[in-house]
This record gives sequence, C-alpha cells and structure tokens, in this order.
Amino acid sequence: MNEKELIRAAFLARKNAYAPYSGYKVGAALITGDGSVITGCNVENSSYGLCNCAERTAVFKAVSEGYKSFRAIAIVGGANDEDETADYAYPCGACRQVLREFTDPETFRVIVARSEADYKEFKLSELLPHSFGPDSIV
Ligand code: THU
Repeated sequence: MNEKELIRAAFLARKNAYAPYSGYKVGAALITGDGSVITGCNVENSSYGLCNCAERTAVFKAVSEGYKSFRAIAIVGGANDEDETADYAYPCGACRQVLREFTDPETFRVIVARSEADYKEFKLSELLPHSFGPDSIV
C-alpha cells in the first residue's frame, strides 16, 4: 500500500463522517505493522464535548481489533464532500498524543492530504516534539 492508496482509504472513510454540528468531515486511514488498513471518521454528538476525532476512531478501532503496531496514518478533512479538500487537516493535539502511545515517533509517518496527489508527510516527532510516552513512566 502506497501513500496514494492510503489517502484514498481516508477519503472513503470520510464519507461516513458524522459531523452535523461542525460540518467539518474528517477521514483517517492507519496502516498497521502487518500492512492492514484500519480507517476512522469523526463522530460528533449533540453534547459537543463528546465528539470523537477520525484519527482516534481509527486508533481505537485498531487496538480493539488486536493491532498495536502502526507505520503511518493518512488524514483528510474539510467541509465539502469531494475527494479534494481546501486545506491539509493536521491532527489535533489529543490525537497526536494517542498516536504517540502506540508508535515510535521517529519512524511513524503522518500524511496530511488535500487529494491523492497533493499531500505532505511528517514524522510524528516533528508534530509532537519532546513527547511523553510509555517509556517516560519508569
Ligand atoms: N476533528 C478530527 O476528526 N480530527 C482532528 O484532528 C481535528 C478535528 C474533528 C472533530 C470535530 O468533529 C470536527 O473535526 C471539528 O472540530
């Protein structure tokens, strides 16, 4: 699975976004150590504080299915319904920290995309420097 295919999976997941309050629809596709792809979308709630981001939906789905090793995540987000968005959708701070729990920040890659052809790629350590993780509690 290459970057384009992972981004396509994120756009497909975005179609399931439940975002009636913000109108901002997000899709994420996580690739596991063994090459499986687990997707997620944002799921909002009329009690606004309970909204869940697409990235955390994907991570929690994956962990609940037995995956704890991840290579990369592709994220797409915007207010439209097309497979091209106005801006790159960077993961929020909470999602960066949740990703950190299960990854090596020096090797885990975060791909933010506007379309299959237009994307940027970062190491998690660039988005969450000097992070706190499982090894910090010893
Ligand atoms: N959202 C995500 O799904 N991922 C992020 O990293 C940032 C924000 C969602 C939450 C909410 O449903 C909507 O985008 C607007 O904040």
